[in-house]
Amino acid sequence: MPGEFTFDSGRRSTRVMVRPGIRREVPIARDRRTLVVIDQSVADSFGKDVAESLLAQGVPVATFTIEANESAKSLGTVGRILDAALAHRLDRGGVLVSVGGGITGDLVGCAAALHLRGVELVHVPTTLLAMVDAALGGKTGANRPLPDGSLGKNLLGAFWPASYVLVDVETLSSLPDRERRCGLAEALKHGLLRDPDLLNFIRDSRDALLAAEVDACDTLALRAGQIKASVVAEDAEEHGVRAILNLGHTFAHAIEGEPGLAYQHGEAVALGLIAAARLAVVLGHAPESFLEELRSDVHWVGLPVTMPEAPCGAALLNRMGFDKKNTVSGLRFVVPTPPCGAVVRSDVPEDAVVSAWREVGVVFS
Ligand SMILES: NC(=O)c1ccc[n+]([C@@H]2O[C@H](COP(=O)([O-])OP(=O)(O)OC[C@H]3O[C@@H](n4cnc5c(N)ncnc54)[C@H](O)[C@@H]3O)[C@@H](O)[C@H]2O)c1
Repeated sequence: MPGEFTFDSGRRSTRVMVRPGIRREVPIARDRRTLVVIDQSVADSFGKDVAESLLAQGVPVATFTIEANESAKSLGTVGRILDAALAHRLDRGGVLVSVGGGITGDLVGCAAALHLRGVELVHVPTTLLAMVDAALGGKTGANRPLPDGSLGKNLLGAFWPASYVLVDVETLSSLPDRERRCGLAEALKHGLLRDPDLLNFIRDSRDALLAAEVDACDTLALRAGQIKASVVAEDAEEHGVRAILNLGHTFAHAIEGEPGLAYQHGEAVALGLIAAARLAVVLGHAPESFLEELRSDVHWVGLPVTMPEAPCGAALLNRMGFDKKNTVSGLRFVVPTPPCGAVVRSDVPEDAVVSAWREVGVVFS
C-alpha cells in the first residue's frame, strides 16, 4: 500500500513518500537549477525517467552519471559531482537529486552538504537497502584509505538530510536478487531494534519481497523506514540513542574493509548481526535461542550466516580499531536486547569479541 510519513531529521524535516511511479513526480519548482546524479546501473531506465519528468515540468536539469562501488565511494567522486554542479551553475537555490542505491545517495548527500555550503537534497533510492535505511536520516559520506592502504568505510561525511525521499519500488524490478537480499539485512536490523512484528512480516513475505512485489515492498519500506525515522527523530546527529542503528556494523565495517573478503554491505551487516547476537548471549543480554532464531531468519532470506573463507581473526580485530564509532575508552558495541532493543557497551572483553567473530566462521590461531 502506498503511504507517506514526515520526520524531524535534525537540520530539517524529511518527507518520505512511498508510491509506485513517484520517480516521475519529483517536487521541484521550475526556477530551481537541478542536477540529477544517477548510478550508471539505472541511468538509461529510472534515472532517465526522473530527469525527463523534471524537464517536462520546465525545471532546468542536467544529469551526471557515477559508478556505484565501494572503491568509487571516494572524495574524488564527490569532487566530480561538485564540478558537475558548478558546470551546471547550481546556485544556492539549486537542488541535487540522487537516483541510485546507498552509495549514490551517500556521495550525492556529501556533495549537497558541500556545494556552496549546502543545497537542497532529494533522494530517489533504487535499492531496497537505500529505501529502508540509507536514504533516511541524513548521514552522508565517502570512504578513505587507511594508513595500511585498505578501505576505511565512511570515514568522511556530514549530516545533511534530504528534504524528500521518494520511494518507488518499481525501480526494484531490475535490482539483482543478491541486492534485494541485502536490503532485508537492514530491515531485519530495524525489526530487532524496535518491532518484532516486522520480523514476522519479513518471514511471512520473504518470497514476495525477493520477487520485488509492489505491495510487499511498499509495506516494508513504510514499516522499516518509520522505525529508522523514529530513532533519528530522537537523536539526529548521534549523540545517544541513534548509535543503536549501528547494530552489527562494527563487525560489518571490519569485514568490508578486509582485502580479500568480497561481501556487499548488506551481507556484511547480516554477518555482523549474528556476531552481535553472540555477544548478547555471552554478555547475558539474550538467551541462546535468540541467536538461533536470528541465524535462521538470516539464512531464510538467503543472506550469509558464516564466512567459509575463514578470515584471520587478528586482522579483523585490528581493523575494528579504526571504526569511527570507537571512543577513546575502547571499542563500542551495539548489543541486542531481545525481544527488541539494544544497548551500547564500551566494556566488552576481548574474549567475548573473539567468540562473536568465531560465530561467523573467523579463525583465531
Ligand atoms: N547513509 C546511511 O545512513 C547508510 C545506511 C546504510 C548503508 N549505507 C551505505 O550504503 C551503501 C550500500 O548501499 P546499497 O546496498 O544500496 O549499495 P549500492 O548503492 O552499491 O547498490 C548496489 C548495487 O546495485 C546497483 N543498483 C542500484 N539500483 C539498481 C537497480 N534498481 N537495478 C539494478 N541495479 C541497481 C548498483 O549499481 C550497485 O552495483 C554502503 O556504502 C553503505 O555504507 C549508508
